[in-house]
Parts: sequence; structure tokens; C-alpha cells
Amino acid sequence: MTRARITIDRDFTIADVPRRLFGSFVEHMGRCVYTGIFEPGHPQADERGFRRDVLQLVKELGPTVVRYPGGNFVSGYLWEDGVGPVDQRPRRLDGAWHTIETNAFGLHEFVEWAGEAGVEVMEAVNLGTRGVEEARALVEYANHPGGTYWSDLRRRNGAADPFDIRLWCLGNELDGPWQIGHKTAHEYGRLAQETAKAMRLVDPTIELVAVGSSNRQMPTFGTWEHTVLTHAYEEVDYISMHAYYQERDGDAASFLAEGVDMDAFIDGVIATIDAVKAAGKHRKQVDISFDEWNVWDQDRYNDHEAREIEAAGWREHPRLIEDTYDVADAVVVGTLLHSLLRHGDRVRIANQAQLVNVIAPIRSEEGGPAWRQSIFWPFARMARLAQGRILRLAVDSSQTSTRKFGDVDAIDAAATWDEASGTIALFVANRSLEEAGDVTVDLRGLAATAIRSAEVLTVPEGGDRRSANVADDQDRVGLVPLRDAGIADGAVRATLPPMSWAVIVLDAATA
Ligand code: AHR
Repeated sequence: MTRARITIDRDFTIADVPRRLFGSFVEHMGRCVYTGIFEPGHPQADERGFRRDVLQLVKELGPTVVRYPGGNFVSGYLWEDGVGPVDQRPRRLDGAWHTIETNAFGLHEFVEWAGEAGVEVMEAVNLGTRGVEEARALVEYANHPGGTYWSDLRRRNGAADPFDIRLWCLGNELDGPWQIGHKTAHEYGRLAQETAKAMRLVDPTIELVAVGSSNRQMPTFGTWEHTVLTHAYEEVDYISMHAYYQERDGDAASFLAEGVDMDAFIDGVIATIDAVKAAGKHRKQVDISFDEWNVWDQDRYNDHEAREIEAAGWREHPRLIEDTYDVADAVVVGTLLHSLLRHGDRVRIANQAQLVNVIAPIRSEEGGPAWRQSIFWPFARMARLAQGRILRLAVDSSQTSTRKFGDVDAIDAAATWDEASGTIALFVANRSLEEAGDVTVDLRGLAATAIRSAEVLTVPEGGDRRSANVADDQDRVGLVPLRDAGIADGAVRATLPPMSWAVIVLDAATA
């Protein structure tokens, strides 16, 4: 049996929960937009073509902010193509995903959809094939009230009020050789600096995200952030991080421990930001926007799918990276969310990539149903329940051994304390493949008076760790009541099944 003792002290906190930590991402890629959130003619579509069934699931998932329109797509995108009368919008080749982009969906549609979904818009500008001029024009189009060329064009296109978009990404993954308009760190750093300046001259209230490394394995990781920030530190508010995790060579133990990698990746970027801050004698603090993260079987994409897509020729919204997520994937997603939450003092924005169909918690079929994947559950619960202050936990856990990381804590956790509602939300994963985990939670300065709810996601009865939700069996993997949870001698005790993720909500009073 695996054992862990978690000590919570209500005075040991990290930060207020940044609500933008529960962001998502809609890219013009595969079937995320077309037949994902937007499918005119679908029986569930409203008069604008928004799928109501998908919207319902998005609201249940609870993202707070959604990044748009890419991703790699944005580095070749002309935003003007996606505004104005739909029947006059051009069809274009999107080289990033070898797809025909119809432009039937664009900025106005996205802003309207976001309003309906109750999410903040995070807009990316193209710094691959374009630059300062097109970016500042887009800010003027989106945010200026009227009386100028671009703002009046927005008004003529049907939006009298400005979109008031606060969050802007200065391009996407420009450190990657695969990116259209790939740049060196110096080239990008200068471009980001000048673009940021020009965008802020149009609207000084915007927040800007500079592009960081595409992943921790990039040969330029570290030096990229250092160089970019040395140029643009004063002009930007955040630097981005991207990370995708997958199980390799059947090594489930290491896969379940990938949160360890995310922790180290974040710590490395914080160190780099702070080194630039110190060397440049800057007073302001740059934080992190972890604006792409998830589990994604990238080997399958790189080894087969990318070639198949090209061989199939140019098509509209082909199926692309529609990964089916199982139990292990959901447990890993839970631990990645723990890592983000534990770093909530510096990671202020995070976007799970993506929202629908493309490596997504929500799946939909053209003309057919929409359903929740296994990874939907940890996100939905944490987005709703992580409120108030993030607690700094002391976790004393049995170890589990992994090939990639050596011995790691078998029990991984994060928690929040919401004084207003008197609740502690405790999120716990058992990474052990075989052993159940006995968890004891000691509260200092607080007394748990009742367990409001306790749920767990694990291997379903009669299933295995590959169990997943599919179109004709949509609820195979989900949250079920965690029966082995109670309060004894002032401590909370729970037993988690092997490979599981659990959420326990406690009523707590000041002791
Ligand atoms: O989310 C899928 C792709 O992954 C994005 O377009 C790109 O930014 C990243 O490499």
C-alpha cells in the first residue's frame, strides 16, 4: 500500500487562484472550429451555426479564457479574410495543416461564440508572415471605439461596440523550424518588442504574451527566453510555455509522473525570466502564460498522420490529431493541472490545447453527437472548485520508481482554500500502477467539519487503463463517488485506487 501524509496550513498559501489558469484553445485546425464549435445545418446548431450541444459541454467544462485562432495556423493567417460578408471571404490554402480554410468562421463569429460560452478571448497575431502593421491594425479593428479606418470597418461589419480584447499573443512557436516564418531569438525578440510597442500605442490597456520555447527539448530552450526577454522585457507581460506529454515505449510509470517534468520546466522558465529581470534592473515582473499544454500522442502524428494528411490532398477541415483519451491520460492531465496550480504565483494563464476534437476534452461528430472524453473530468472539476487561495502543501509520500525520473512521489496533490465559502478543495492523484494509496490530510489552523463531496476517476469496472469514452459508449470513464473517504481524529483520510485522480471538497472552519 502506498501512503502519504499531506499537511495543510491555512497560513501557508501561494497566491489567489488565477482564474485564467483554466483556459482552453480553439485553433483553425482539423475539426476544432468546423464541425466542432461551428456546424451550420447540424440539428443542434443555432441560427449562427454554433453547435448548442458542444456549447453546453463547453459551459460544463468551464474554461475561463480561450486562445484563438492558432497555433501554427496563425503564422500564415490574414485576419482580414475572416471579417466582412461571409460570401465574399476568400478560400485559402493553410500550409500549416495542409487544409483549405474557407474563412466561413472568423473574428466576429469567435467573439460572439466566446460571449455565448462566457469565456474571455485571447487573440494571437501573425508574426510569421506578417508584422507590426497588421498587428496594430487588428488591435484598432478590435478595440478602438470608432471614427478610424479599421474601427469603422468593424462597425460596418456589424459590431458597433469594440470587442475589448485584453489578452494578445505575439505570434506562435516562432522558435520552431516547422513554423511558417520561423525566426532566430534575436529576430523574434526585436519584432516582438516593436510589435508590442505599436499595439500598445493603439490600446495601452492590453496584456501581451511573448513567444517562449515550443517545448523543453528545443535546442534553444533557455537561451531563446533569455534573448527574447532581453529585447522585450519592458514591453511584454508574459512569456509563453508549451508542453505536450505522451506515453512512450509502454512506460506508463514515467508517463504518470510527467508532472515532474512540468514542474521543472516551469521552474526553469521562472529562473530565466528572473535572471533577465535582475540583469536588466527591471522593476516589473514578467509572468508565464502556459498557453498550450496537454497529453498528445505526437509520435503518431509525426510518424503517420502528417504524411497521410498531405497524401490525401487539400481538403476542408480534415480529421487531425483526434486522440482518444483513456484513464491514464486523465490522471496525467489531473497532475499537470496540479503543477499549474502549484505555480499559480507565476503561471497566470494556461490553456489546455485544444477544446473540441483536436486533442480535446470534448469530441463531436459531423451531424452526430458530442461527448466528454476522460480528460474532461479533472479539468471541469478543477476549473469549478479551485477557488480562493492556493495552498502550499507539505506532502510526505511513498515513492514510486520510474525509468525517466527515478523515484517520485506516488501521491501528487494540490489544494485551494476558499474562505468566503469555507471550503477546501483537495485534488489528489495516485500515480502507482498497482498499489492503492492511503492518504491522510492534516489541517493546521482549520478544522474539517464535513466532506461535502468526494469523487474519483479510475479504471472502470470490467475495464482497464485503456478504457475510454467513444461515440457509442460515451460514459465509460468518469467520476464516481470515492467511498473510502472520511474524517477521523480531526484528519481527513481517503484511500485512492491505483492510477486514479480524486477531488475531495471539505467544509472547514477556523480552528
Ligand atoms: O495544438 C496543436 C499545435 O501544437 C499548435 O498549432 C502548435 O502551436 C503546437 O505545435
